[in-house]
Amino acid sequence: MNVRAAPAALDWPLMKNNITRADLDAVIDYLRGEDVMLTQSGNVRAFEEEWSAWLGVRHSVFVNSGSSANLLTLAALRELHGGGEIIVPPLTWVSDVAAALQCGYQPVFVDIDPRTLGMDNEEVLRKLGPRTRAVFLTHILGYNGLTQRLLDELTARGIPLIEDACESHGATFKGRKLGTFGLASNFSFYYAHHLSTIEGGMVCTDDAELHEAVRMFRSHGMVREAGSEALRRRYREAHPDLNPEFIFAFPAYNMRSTEINALIGRSQLKRLDANNAIRAGNLRVFLDHLDPARYQTGFATEGSCNYALTLVLGRADAVLRDHVEAALRAHGVEFRRGASGGGNQLRQPYLKRVVGEREHEKYPRVDHVHFFGFYIGNYPDLDRGKILRLCEILNALPTG
Ligand SMILES: Cc1ncc(COP(=O)(O)O)c(C=O)c1O
Repeated sequence: MNVRAAPAALDWPLMKNNITRADLDAVIDYLRGEDVMLTQSGNVRAFEEEWSAWLGVRHSVFVNSGSSANLLTLAALRELHGGGEIIVPPLTWVSDVAAALQCGYQPVFVDIDPRTLGMDNEEVLRKLGPRTRAVFLTHILGYNGLTQRLLDELTARGIPLIEDACESHGATFKGRKLGTFGLASNFSFYYAHHLSTIEGGMVCTDDAELHEAVRMFRSHGMVREAGSEALRRRYREAHPDLNPEFIFAFPAYNMRSTEINALIGRSQLKRLDANNAIRAGNLRVFLDHLDPARYQTGFATEGSCNYALTLVLGRADAVLRDHVEAALRAHGVEFRRGASGGGNQLRQPYLKRVVGEREHEKYPRVDHVHFFGFYIGNYPDLDRGKILRLCEILNALPTG
């Protein structure tokens, strides 16, 4: 009987060991202390300060997810800057588009630049108009999505930039960290990301007014959550009939996190830069060894820092795509097709209800990633030998 040997499993999940023994021990040590506080308190504040220092911004607000960060940022933007259009990519996480809709913005979409997977900056510029309230740009899987021309034009026209850096902790543009260029930036600390607090997110800004609004939006719109005594006094004096402890400025949310999540974040932050250097090196090895005749290898890697390796077919080849999927499964390599958010958001039922059945057809470069793009896990203890072996496997697959 002719029995084919099963291929050796590479045992390669999307993420591994992202919360370490040291992180858990930090929590256990804390829990063993006296009068242990668990709800948002000193560790949350300390994590916010340490994150701000690491990133290079004045203020950070720790919340319970990256999606909460997206929603709070747009809710505060809407409150302070009003409604209108917001430019968003069709290749992003669902919560970026959902937050725009939930805050009453009209989303305007822009196709991607295949080298960054982020919005084509020239097309963003073409779509700016009198109703544009903000550009909400996502830095996809660690690739910088900004050009100096876009930054200059937005500054000249007074249009705020919001950066979703949920997939790009530590990545840079011209040596400066992503998440420091816009009016605000959002990060996710979900398990699969560069830094994890189990679940978690951060809103970062240099803008004092936005910072105060986001702090209040995080906690029911409560004025006592604001850091500024002058602001709290203004509200107290304007509303003498209210208990000063219970003044609600906005119809808001409860998106707080806990001391435990913050402790894990503080413990993780100490090794983030070292981990990120390994991740950036892993991507270089991967892209250097992939066959450029089959796969896209010309990504804009300068300053990039990802938690997942990008595998995008050079052309729309369904035969190669099916072989890639079969080979990854056969070798125990976990993957996601469509890259961030599963590909073209405009094909999703929640968005077709808003934009119509055929809007997605206008964004062919996103559609290419939707059908022919993947991501694969990239974590610090990923064995470089496995990366080389996977490239050999992928480079030998038949094309159509
Ligand atoms: C670009 C982007 N934005 C927002 C989010 C939402 O983050 P979370 O999963 O923490 O809600 C993600 C999640 O993976 C993401 O990739």
